[in-house]
Amino acid sequence: MSAMPSSVPAGPELTGEDPFAGTAYRSVRRLAAGGMGEVFVVSHRELGREFVAKVLHLRYAKDERLIDRVRIEAQTLGRLDHPNIVSVSGFGTAKDGRPFIVMELLYGRTLGAELEARGKLPLPEALHYVRELLGALGAAHALGIVHRDIKPENLFLAERPDGTRTLKVLDFGIVRVLPGFDGSPQPLALPTATGLVVGTPRYVSPEGALGAKVDHRADLYAAGLVLYVSVAGRGPFDHLRKEGELLNAHASTRPAAPSTVAGLALPQALDLAVLHSLEKRPEGRFQSAEEFMTALDQIGAALRTGEPLAIVEPDPYPAPDSLTVAPAIDPSTSGLRRVPQPPNQKRFLLLFVLIAAVTSVIVSQVVRAILVWSAR
Ligand SMILES: Nc1ncnc2c1ncn2[C@@H]1O[C@H](COP(=O)(O)OP(=O)(O)OP(=O)(O)O)[C@@H](O)[C@H]1O
Ligand SMILES: [Mg+2]
Repeated sequence: MSAMPSSVPAGPELTGEDPFAGTAYRSVRRLAAGGMGEVFVVSHRELGREFVAKVLHLRYAKDERLIDRVRIEAQTLGRLDHPNIVSVSGFGTAKDGRPFIVMELLYGRTLGAELEARGKLPLPEALHYVRELLGALGAAHALGIVHRDIKPENLFLAERPDGTRTLKVLDFGIVRVLPGFDGSPQPLALPTATGLVVGTPRYVSPEGALGAKVDHRADLYAAGLVLYVSVAGRGPFDHLRKEGELLNAHASTRPAAPSTVAGLALPQALDLAVLHSLEKRPEGRFQSAEEFMTALDQIGAALRTGEPLAIVEPDPYPAPDSLTVAPAIDPSTSGLRRVPQPPNQKRFLLLFVLIAAVTSVIVSQVVRAILVWSAR
């Protein structure tokens, strides 16, 4: 059995009976407890190897709909074999009837925890993770699977043995399987009816906020928000606290460009790509993960080769909470070309000259009229 590396967050010590008693697994430590269930590090009794098991809360042990949700999550993950999606290795039922999913044990922390610790990420790093996320979404969407809960807390930055990190998408608990994809796990009782907001209000798509049907483009909207928050350190509507306000904002408020809240210079192409991903109408956005990825690849390639990219200067009056973190890119070393922006003083001078010219024309016309009148 492997020792628990320090990068696996410590959870509360186990108290009471082991939920996996009587199964092939033994619980080692509880990692997290969500709305629906609990996540444990478990050890396989025979193999002596550690995994992660996600089990439904005891209070839902008899809830057919939620039992179904766990089954769907397991079957969905079982169909998805992708380096950027957590891999599932088993599914079982505890003695008390609660279903559980067994997954590979990842070391590291979620992107949510990473952003909490670092504020925001350097642009190349953010692009790298969102690219990995889009790769995972592309694979899921190709099978008709929409995740519906993409947010930094469900994206795990897994440490590889060589110290590098790779993003893994977690939590396929509220997936929607699009009609017409044969062989997909079919929900028996999953509450997907129109009118129900599913997911997290901070990352919900406009159509999701309005309770309309969502498709894979809702995941692409959320991926755009993940990129936004990763480079700017905050989302476009993070100042809103009430769920209703957040839903309204996603449904109808135009988000500010990330560069205006980031407090640092960002490529204009990045602003445009992010804003495109956040279009209110699904038809107005990137239509596929691949299309989104291509746009990001062009920015990434330009950053790597030092090809000039127009950049947008930070807002001179950023929101107070975006003032603290160091610039993500150094334009002097990244090959970015600054777009010449007329300084404010020049703008005022231009306005002054214009007003003076108009005034002198009016005055000369009045004087002329008076002279003509007095000469009569
Ligand atoms: N395979 C894994 N390896 C390591 N840690 C994991 C793994 N799966 C989940 N975790 C940890 O447990 C947390 C919760 O997992 P997950 O997002 O799947 O469930 P949840 O949000 O509690 O579920 P739900 O929203 O369905 O109640 C993650 O944020 C992560 O920190
Ligand atoms: Mg989760």
